[in-house]
Amino acid sequence: MEPIEGGMAYHSDYDRMMEECSSFGCQRYKETSMKVTFADGVRDFRYKVKEWFVDGELLTLVLEDIYYPLQVKLFYRVHEDLDIIERWREAENMGDEPIDLESFYSAEYSMPGDGYQSMNCNGTWISEFKTFSEPVDCGKKVYESTRGATAHVTSPYFILHQNATEETGEVFYGALAYSGNFKVVVEATPYDYVNVLIGISDTDFVWHLNRGESFAAPAVYAGYSADGFGGMSNTMSRFARKKVMPASTADQVLPILYNSWEAMTFDVNCTQQILLAEKAAQIGAELFVMDDGWFGKRNDDFAGLGDWDINPQKFPNGLTPLIDRVKELGMKFGIWIEPEMVNKDSDLYRSHPEWVYRYETREILEGRNQIMLDMTNPEVVAYLTDTIDKLLSENDIAYIKWDMNRSISECASACHDSLDYKSIWYRHTQGFYDMIRALRNRHPNVEFEACASGGGRVDYGAMQYFDEFWTSDNTDALDRLSIQEGYSYLYPIKYMRAWVTDKHRASLSFRTHCSMCGSLGIGMNLNSASPAELEQLRTMILRYKEIRPIVQFGELYRLKSLKQDEIQAVQYVLGEESVFFAFLPQQFRCKSHFLVKLRGLDENAMYRICFEDKQEIKGSAHMSADQAVLEMVKGKTSHKSGAYLMNNGLELKLSGDYDSIFVVLTKD
Ligand code: DGJ
Repeated sequence: MEPIEGGMAYHSDYDRMMEECSSFGCQRYKETSMKVTFADGVRDFRYKVKEWFVDGELLTLVLEDIYYPLQVKLFYRVHEDLDIIERWREAENMGDEPIDLESFYSAEYSMPGDGYQSMNCNGTWISEFKTFSEPVDCGKKVYESTRGATAHVTSPYFILHQNATEETGEVFYGALAYSGNFKVVVEATPYDYVNVLIGISDTDFVWHLNRGESFAAPAVYAGYSADGFGGMSNTMSRFARKKVMPASTADQVLPILYNSWEAMTFDVNCTQQILLAEKAAQIGAELFVMDDGWFGKRNDDFAGLGDWDINPQKFPNGLTPLIDRVKELGMKFGIWIEPEMVNKDSDLYRSHPEWVYRYETREILEGRNQIMLDMTNPEVVAYLTDTIDKLLSENDIAYIKWDMNRSISECASACHDSLDYKSIWYRHTQGFYDMIRALRNRHPNVEFEACASGGGRVDYGAMQYFDEFWTSDNTDALDRLSIQEGYSYLYPIKYMRAWVTDKHRASLSFRTHCSMCGSLGIGMNLNSASPAELEQLRTMILRYKEIRPIVQFGELYRLKSLKQDEIQAVQYVLGEESVFFAFLPQQFRCKSHFLVKLRGLDENAMYRICFEDKQEIKGSAHMSADQAVLEMVKGKTSHKSGAYLMNNGLELKLSGDYDSIFVVLTKD
């Protein structure tokens, strides 16, 4: 490092340095990537690199304190073919005295130069994934969850760019594989670099390392795109599919799901669910999911959580009659649970009041009338695992929607010493992982969906154990367009569950097209849908089944965004085929013709372009034969070259309010 002219005068060489592992102390005044307290009260980790080694794709750097017996290993795994570097860290106490880790991020990245913008989401329940880019000129940007789970507020990743667009500009990014309290710090240093820290949040965190113990921080998957946000999204989706998602389902398309929540809320019973299932099968659903309300005394959200036995009034003969009928109709059966929670009004809470997080001297604050079970207590995790295991073993259940509807408060546990309370946030996440891991091992064929009041548990940690995410409780199609767009920057489309519901602001075809942009599900009350609506849904589902590999596994191109354009347009390309959706929420000044440049096509090839008919409700009540329906839906066709479609664009006609279009392109 060049000395600063005029000597040190307040400059810290440590702050000037771009580091791989800055540690609190020495003369560092920037936000540092770790902080320890040794038994004698010394709080800086002064290290040298003891050794480093390379084993295949893995580089390990071993840092060792020059006085105290603390080692920190920095791991770098290069996924060269997928263009991602995975990093994580581990601290080990090599001595006899205890050492406290007060902050221990997973990785640190120093970005040389300035002019960066930092992108992340600002959100809340029913308004997830609102993306923003803000200049990093001064001070720190902190994106953090202190709620005990990922939560809706912001996302556990960093994205830094310099005026990047979808197709151009450099983007540096990294996502944390963790579902608990996280923190991302993006700091504009005065020394011509931006420092980024990402890992477990250090708010209310202390991990005691006793003799011989080690602590590993979760992995970060990081990459670089030279061609804008689009390059970033597609690289991460490919990586997620190859390295993060459960291998058994990563390459399989997700089934078309029907979910009863928006139609019935807690008011479920065997007869009415069978009626729904019959309609769901009629329109082509492959998985029928009964949501909340089937267990304990669950008639509203005041009671029942924790009592995972079938409600005898609603299901006098258990779940078997419903499951049998669902299977007879050719669908799989799925069910909702929220295992980490309990209502005060439940048998579980009455028999185990000590199984929840609480301070002896404080009232337990409720959220959605529920409190949180102590997932740091192995007895609780074992009990819950066995209970859900029993449910899965005794009933032919092929899918679980695992919900979590409140954040942690009173973070204290009857099974830990009070000096250990600051580790509970982290331990909760580990308890949750232990439970889902055990259930997956015992039931390898069950599909699991992660949900936390909508998109509160969307992260690369949960992705290791779940097959899909419930994106948001907001199912209004127009809102969804922006939620889905925000989601898609760093998370794979396949995991984005999207239901068509009865939220009626837009036409049924607009709503269905919007949900077809992800993994399609239906949440309408099919018992009150008209025959024409059912037929329209059936037609569109049939068509979705044909194109779903392109949507779920294809390259994604965000072509137009309602953030700045009059329409939203998105395209997916897989091999020789591509699908395109465009949405016009509101016609403006009579403009009804739009030209959208497509991407990802072969410029030397000709494409057959098929504009799908909208199939708006025409009053047709009968179910026509599948093939005839598909032919009818496949509307006008034309042929254009890839070069024309990418350089001139695809001409569209969209008019009125809530108009949408669905186009399939196939190489000739
Ligand atoms: C919140 C979820 O996000 C909804 O989809 C639904 O499952 C309810 N919980 C049920 O209580």
